[in-house]
Amino acid sequence: MRDRCGRSITYLRLSVTDRCSLRCRYCMPAGGVPKRDHRDICSVEELVEIARAAADCGVRKVRLTGGEPLVRRGILDICRGISAIPGVEELCLTTNGAALPQLAKPLKEAGVDRLNVSLDTLRPDRYAYMTRVGRLEDALRGLEAAEEAGFAGTKLNVVLMKGFNEDEIPDFVDLARRYPLEVRFIELMPIGEGGSAPFLPAQAVLDACPDLRPAKGSGVARRYRPPGGPGLVGLIEPMSHRFCGDCDRIRVTADGKLKPCLHSDQELPLRGLHGEELRRAIETGIAAKPERHHMNETGRSEAGRNMHQIGG
Ligand code: GTP
Ligand code: 5AD
Ligand code: SF4
Repeated sequence: MRDRCGRSITYLRLSVTDRCSLRCRYCMPAGGVPKRDHRDICSVEELVEIARAAADCGVRKVRLTGGEPLVRRGILDICRGISAIPGVEELCLTTNGAALPQLAKPLKEAGVDRLNVSLDTLRPDRYAYMTRVGRLEDALRGLEAAEEAGFAGTKLNVVLMKGFNEDEIPDFVDLARRYPLEVRFIELMPIGEGGSAPFLPAQAVLDACPDLRPAKGSGVARRYRPPGGPGLVGLIEPMSHRFCGDCDRIRVTADGKLKPCLHSDQELPLRGLHGEELRRAIETGIAAKPERHHMNETGRSEAGRNMHQIGG
């Protein structure tokens, strides 16, 4: 279905939990998040029903997000349910990777097609600092497990932060020179905790690696190829709202609110709706999708939630 700006909406980002095994400084408050009653969060059946209704409205790709989707009880049932929906051509998942050693193979068997793994540093001490509780080796073992389970097209998400991982840009780009991976550098968005971390523009990547050659873009990323390497380098630059005009996505939070735009506080409750009513609510949300965000003018997001409560 098309929104009022004529954009075709084919991609649903479905958050399955607001909880996470890590506490990344730009995403989660230091004290973690208060545990919600499981009744406040959509059940497995509700999530599958929402995805089915979205598919009826024209969605063809579903990405499961969190918090961290792999800490959600029933995640494999959710994957099995959504991958079986006629119309859903691609089921993807964005994860911090720590649970992939146990879950990569079962996820593949449950119908997940592709993974994006968040990894902001390749230094163990920095990883421990940024995630507050994580270990780099767990994320790296997760990446290996994904490959062993047969996942192809895995992307690495690196959030750029001035004074934190700026000096590691060439090391990350080297990964794309050596492996068939897409390494994506993401500009930090001033959402919740992200508003207080130090911003670094994606241009820093092109300055640090001037040999990168433009390649065909994909989704929200401008892409480059390291000469001679099998991988790709992507730049995701939300601050310049370079991609709002091509936006093809809607979001649903773990508590069942449809968010037509990441950076708008507009939310439509979907819980309790079924069949035709649910489908109509999703259509209403798509129709109401804002034209673009205003972060670069106001310096802040109007998302009204923290990132871990939306899923990016
Ligand atoms: P692919 O399907 O592999 O293209 O993944 P993706 O980029 O859609 O998903 P991923 O979860 O890996 O998101 C990467 C980054 O892009 C995250 O920081 C997201 O918050 C950001 N992002 C994704 N969609 C949007 C969007 O619509 N607007 C903005 N501003 N940022 C987005
Ligand atoms: N700005 C940009 N990206 C963010 N992510 C989490 N918080 C922010 C933020 N404030 C990223 C995570 C993950 C993806 C879903 O969103 O690192 O890769
Ligand atoms: Fe968890 Fe991802 Fe937020 Fe880090 S960025 S705390 S891995 S949800």
